[in-house]
Amino acid sequence: MNSLKLSNMSPLNDPSFMFGVATSSFQIEGARGSRQDTIWDTFCLKKGAIADSSNGDTACEHVKYWQQDIQMIANLGVDAYRFSIAWGRVVNQDGSPNPEGLAFYSRLLDKLEALDIKAFVTLYHWDLPQHLEDKGGWLNRDTAFEFAHYVDIVSKEFAHRVYSYATLNEPWCSAYLGYEVGIHAPGLKGKQRGKQAAHNLLLAHGLAMQVLRKNSPKSKNGIVLNFSPSYAASSNEQDIAAAKLADEHFNQWYLRPILQGSYPDIIHSMPKEHRPQVEAGDMSLISQPIDFLGVNYYSRAIYQHCEQDGFKVCSPQSMNLTDMGWEVYPQGLVKLLTDLNKRYTLPDIYITENGAAIDDKLIDGQVVDNARIAYYKSHLDAVEQAIVAGVNIKGYFAWSLMDNFEWALGYKKRFGIIYVDYQTQQRTLKQSALAYQDMLLSRKI
Ligand code: NOJ
Repeated sequence: MNSLKLSNMSPLNDPSFMFGVATSSFQIEGARGSRQDTIWDTFCLKKGAIADSSNGDTACEHVKYWQQDIQMIANLGVDAYRFSIAWGRVVNQDGSPNPEGLAFYSRLLDKLEALDIKAFVTLYHWDLPQHLEDKGGWLNRDTAFEFAHYVDIVSKEFAHRVYSYATLNEPWCSAYLGYEVGIHAPGLKGKQRGKQAAHNLLLAHGLAMQVLRKNSPKSKNGIVLNFSPSYAASSNEQDIAAAKLADEHFNQWYLRPILQGSYPDIIHSMPKEHRPQVEAGDMSLISQPIDFLGVNYYSRAIYQHCEQDGFKVCSPQSMNLTDMGWEVYPQGLVKLLTDLNKRYTLPDIYITENGAAIDDKLIDGQVVDNARIAYYKSHLDAVEQAIVAGVNIKGYFAWSLMDNFEWALGYKKRFGIIYVDYQTQQRTLKQSALAYQDMLLSRKI
């Protein structure tokens, strides 16, 4: 099976359903010299922090090759391109706009418009300027206001040229991986820190939403969250409770404040010293209406009871794993979306990331990545099922356009549908890109 073709009956054939590809600034841009240093530049210097000791100095050199990259995106036949703006490329340390950085994204937007591709801009995909980290980063409430200032600059400059703005990408990763367990930048640890960073990120989202409403009321403004639906390791009551607790901490902790203006009830039973500091008015700022929710989905998570924290994550029970060790579990996406739809009044949903890392090999100019095609096929089927079950899904983005810097795992993990040879910066369409292209082009006939 190496085709992604949709059946005639598929709701994904609806011309208003959008297909796209996604990337992020730090992971592809390179050109470190023309932006401020970020927390990831610093983290990459830490011994053992990045699996292959690499960094984002050059990455895919997208700042140099952006024209050919955008042309490549157009050739795939997508409707939309999701990318992020590097905060430290468009704003200087003193808070003034950086005209060269803004001009770079302006050219990119022009080219996308000329090619009739909708721009889905993420405003924060983890590359916090280092000087803000020096003042406490996301542990400091002021960072949320700095973020709103940066969003003001960007949205005044670009306003309606952008189809959609997402304030944050996966705040759970920034807060939990970065400030609670320390495996992402800035590498800090502590339970209170994790929850405080999460709160300040959510506050940043709320403040940015106000700015976007004012400066860019016509674009679709929202946020991108990652979800791993929680499953219990057994039918034992304690494991079921463990899975529920993990879901509250990891998934609902971000969504409920945004959609309902409150943290999950577990906040009241958490030790006081682990709770975030919340100021009067914060929750109503955080819970302003959003036009869309971006859902990033890769896999499920399985939990078991454990005395210390109430839950612990178990290894996958299946043999069908991607190169990240993540279980291929498309049913999890259907369950996630239908459960969320029951629990909340959801805005429009976009699947803003979905994809698989595979240990790809470029042989005779080809990358035969059938496992990735199978992954996409099964997850597109899952999206169809969720739509049929009543979830209002408006689009789907493959992660990623091309291989790139996979954070703490460096360049060894390849998520692209396009292969990147980092020595020559040569891009090669993998079989999955050809299958995606074939599906997209036949959809347009
Ligand atoms: C989520 C992140 O948004 C993206 O940056 C990352 O590369 C993928 N997941 C894969 O881990």
